[in-house]
This record gives sequence, structure tokens and C-alpha cells, in this order.
Amino acid sequence: ATANISDVAAWLAECEQATVLTGAGISTASGIPDFRGPQGLWTRNPAAAAMFDIDIYRADADVRRQVWQMRRASPALTAEPNDAHRALVDLDRAGRLRAVVTQNIDGLHQKAGMDPAHVLEVHGTIHEVECLSCGRRTPTPEVLARLEEESDPHCLACGGIQKAATVSFGQRLDPGVLDAAVAAAEECDLFLAVGTSLTVHPVAGLCDTAVLHGARLVIVNAEPTPYDEAAAAVLRGPAETVLPELAKRALRTG
Ligand code: NAD
Ligand code: APR
Repeated sequence: ATANISDVAAWLAECEQATVLTGAGISTASGIPDFRGPQGLWTRNPAAAAMFDIDIYRADADVRRQVWQMRRASPALTAEPNDAHRALVDLDRAGRLRAVVTQNIDGLHQKAGMDPAHVLEVHGTIHEVECLSCGRRTPTPEVLARLEEESDPHCLACGGIQKAATVSFGQRLDPGVLDAAVAAAEECDLFLAVGTSLTVHPVAGLCDTAVLHGARLVIVNAEPTPYDEAAAAVLRGPAETVLPELAKRALRTG
């Protein structure tokens, strides 16, 4: 992959439709830690991943109490979008994007002004809480407000265990959302993976799907990924500076 940012800008200006896949790296500039980067949550605390898988969460009220306290403190709830999110909104408004498939649960693409119909949250959202028994969904702030009196707030409708509507390890992805993400990868002629280590499946496999259907693969990431070899271009750097530069060039020549 020897193409550079001006090649990618030209591709972005000329393509029929681009699909973007984002990961935690697009939100680190908004103050939300990623998982596997140098300051990542798993990098710093490898046990965290094992501790919060869905079976342990269901079985252990003490783990739930810890996770509720962590959710309360989570930067993802109050973070603001950064220039990387805004650059994608500019590209979307210029009709360049088919969809943004995001592994992030922070809702920052929508908060930056992206049309929610163009955002596919394949790992769910932290802004809603879901009952693991009846499926009822409640805005997260309403459930966090109950934490004063209840350390493990259960579903008001059925009494079931509740959890942030995020996809934890061991939970399945929403089939409808995943199908839409696969279609967006199949139907684009340019696929940009931004701020993701591309190490978690099935989402990382969207890169293979896109390439198999004739798309060019472009990776924007601070560190190497397993898909760098398959990419037509790898832009190594912070998404919050690379994406605005890319959008500026693409929309000028567009
Ligand atoms: P989850 O149940 O999958 O758990 C992931 C775990 O990350 C948490 O439960 C906890 O163990 C750990 N974690 C999260 N925030 C933490 C913190 N502040 N301190 C210590 N550990 C913390 O659910 P989740 O945390 O809601 O994450 C769901 C999804 O979030 C992950 O599947 C991943 O897709 C994604 N993610 C999103 C962003 C973002 O939105 N910018 C950043 C990193 C990860
Ligand atoms: N600019 C560009 N890249 C960045 C930046 C930045 N400002 N900050 C971090 N990165 C890179 C890191 O180097 C890392 O390669 O973003 C990548 C983030 O990778 P992960 O931490 O693995 O996050 P992600 O790929 O979203 O994780 C995928 O794993 O834990 C599960 O379900 C969770 O959705 C998550 C999935």
C-alpha cells in the first residue's frame, strides 16, 4: 500500500459511494479510552475484559454493581464529538457516504450531526439500557438516577436484570444491523476503516467483504492492523487530523 492522502482524497471524490467503519480510535480525542491502544482499557487492565462478559454479568450481582458505577463515570456518556466525527458529517452531507458502521457505543457520530439513518451501531449504544429478560429499553440517565437508592436497578416492567444496550463479549450482534452493515460493505466501491484495530469479528471481516466485492480498502489508524497488507492505502496518524484533511481535499476536488 503506497498510495498517499491525495490519492485517497481523489478516490473519495470520484467513488460512487464510500462506506466507513469506525472504532474506538475515532473517539479517543473526545476523551474516551480505546481498548487496545497504548492507553487502552485492555492494555492497562487485561482482567477487565474477562470480568465483564455477559454470563458473569448475568450471574454476579457484585459485578453488575461495579459496572453500574463505572457506567456512571463513563466518559462516553458526556463526551463531545471531535474533528474526525465532524469531517465524516461533511462527507455525508456532500453525499459521499453510503453508511458509517461503528463499533463505538458513544453516539458521537449522531451527536456530531450525522443522519442517524446513516449510522449503524453494530455494538449497540451506551445511551440506552436494555432488560435482558423482556427487552424493554430505557434512556440510560433514567436508570443511572435510580443508583442513589438501588445499586443494581432491575427492569420496572418485569423485574429482570438490566444492562447498557451495548454488545458485550458473548452477546450476539443485532442481526438486522449486521445485515445492513454487510450490505454497506458489499455495495460500496471505497471502504475506509478508521480508528479500529480490526481484531474483533464479525466486524473486522467487513474489510474482506468489501474487497471481495471490488471495493478499495483504506485504513486510517495510529497503529498497524492485520488488514494493512490488503489495503490500497494506509494513512498512519490521528483520525482527528487525517480525516479533516481528507475531507477538505475530497470536497474541494469533488
Ligand atoms: P461491555 O459490556 O462490552 O464491556 C466492555 C468493558 O469495557 C466494560 O464492561 C468494562 O469492563 C470495560 N470498560 C468500559 N469502560 C471502562 C472504564 N471506564 N474503566 C474500566 N473498564 C471499562 O460494554 P461497554 O463498556 O459498554 O463497551 C461496549 C462496547 O464499547 C465495546 O463492545 C466496544 O465496542 C466499545 N467501545 C466503544 C468506545 C467508544 O464508543 N468510543 C470505546 C471503546 C470501546
Ligand atoms: N487516531 C487514529 N487511531 C487511533 C487513535 C486516534 N486518535 N486513538 C487510538 N487509535 C487506534 C489504536 O491504535 C487502535 O489500533 O485505534 C485502534 C482502537 O482499537 P481498539 O481499542 O481495539 O478498539 P476497536 O477496534 O473499536 O475495538 C473493537 O473490541 O472490545 C471490543 O466490542 C469492543 O467495539 C470494540 C471492539
